[in-house]
Amino acid sequence: MDHSRHSPGRLESASFAFATTDARFGEGVATTVDDVLTELDVSNPLLVTDEGVETAGVLEPVRDALDATPTIHYATTEPSTADVTDLPTDEVDGVLAVGGGSCIDTAKLVATLLAHGGDAADYLGVDEVPGPVAPFVAVPTTSGTGSQATQTAVVSHDGIKLGSSDEYLRPDLALVDPTLTYDLPADVTARSGFDAFVHALESLTARDHRWVEPRPITYQGANPVSRALAREALSTIHGALERATFDGGDRDARRAMSVGSHLAGAAFSISGLGIVHALASTLGGLTDEPHGACLAASIEAGLTYNLPIRREQYASIARSLELVDEGATDDEAASALVAECNRLSESLGLPTSMTDLGLERTDVGEIVENTLVQERRLPTNPRDADEELRTCLLTVEFDA
Ligand SMILES: [Fe+2]
Repeated sequence: MDHSRHSPGRLESASFAFATTDARFGEGVATTVDDVLTELDVSNPLLVTDEGVETAGVLEPVRDALDATPTIHYATTEPSTADVTDLPTDEVDGVLAVGGGSCIDTAKLVATLLAHGGDAADYLGVDEVPGPVAPFVAVPTTSGTGSQATQTAVVSHDGIKLGSSDEYLRPDLALVDPTLTYDLPADVTARSGFDAFVHALESLTARDHRWVEPRPITYQGANPVSRALAREALSTIHGALERATFDGGDRDARRAMSVGSHLAGAAFSISGLGIVHALASTLGGLTDEPHGACLAASIEAGLTYNLPIRREQYASIARSLELVDEGATDDEAASALVAECNRLSESLGLPTSMTDLGLERTDVGEIVENTLVQERRLPTNPRDADEELRTCLLTVEFDA
């Protein structure tokens, strides 16, 4: 039973839609890139990557597979509108992104500017891209954000983190090749993989689409297609993340993380996320800690806040992940899911509380204030977010 039906904004219509990025998976699929670009009529791609990817040797197999030597545009780890000026517009006819989420997000803006000109800031917001962007192929080198499967670019403008969300921003094709992740360091595997884990969990448990007010952004609440993908993503990631982190050479685990993080991205690109991501954005702003660490510090509070209206679903997830015996009550099983998320954070060497990030009881007011204004995340959280969050944070995080 979905108790969030009591929320304002109930729709009479039960219709829903699902859009996705075309994708090809498998070991070596990134080396088909030249054929793929030819299929898209791209002869001079602008290669968007970053120095870390290049230094790690991950770019090499993709660049070697290209017939011509491409012009390179270097992305930064924190993309900003200032990074995408002076593009070689006249010399290139498409975009090839090879990198993690920030690199693919940068490439989304590059593809937009190649097609439509202007400044990156013109396209911030929702549905601001006027038409199809330049042909665009994304090759992820981490198993985390799932940006290759989404319609959103997160980017800073004048020091403020904003986003551009538009169906035109989905890449034409994602080449998801686990071999590019084989040598990812343990800490990056853990942080990016935990992000994918939370994408799957928040997507699966997001407010049902029937109770989300229509809005231009495509995060429309969970529907049967997004839930199917999120469920598969969650069990895949849960079964592989620690193995991929602690035994980087475990190729089955690497493959599972590649596929799982992509499925999670596809799922949340439709359903939207929830309060764990809203809290993590707040913590990121207050502490500058990486996204994955902020999620790990927020997950217990976020799940506990939603527990009153997600107890049955949390219990069902705990049973499907075999966290409890058959005889466990819903209360016991739901608590086991929350405990498992904390166990996973701890096992991965991530923070398990807000105090682990150096935050204190006196910060609660600011955390709540900065979280309750997050329009992107909260409408798809299963429970309405309000001042009760303060009590929850005090109880769970700061021993009130
Ligand atoms: Fe995330």
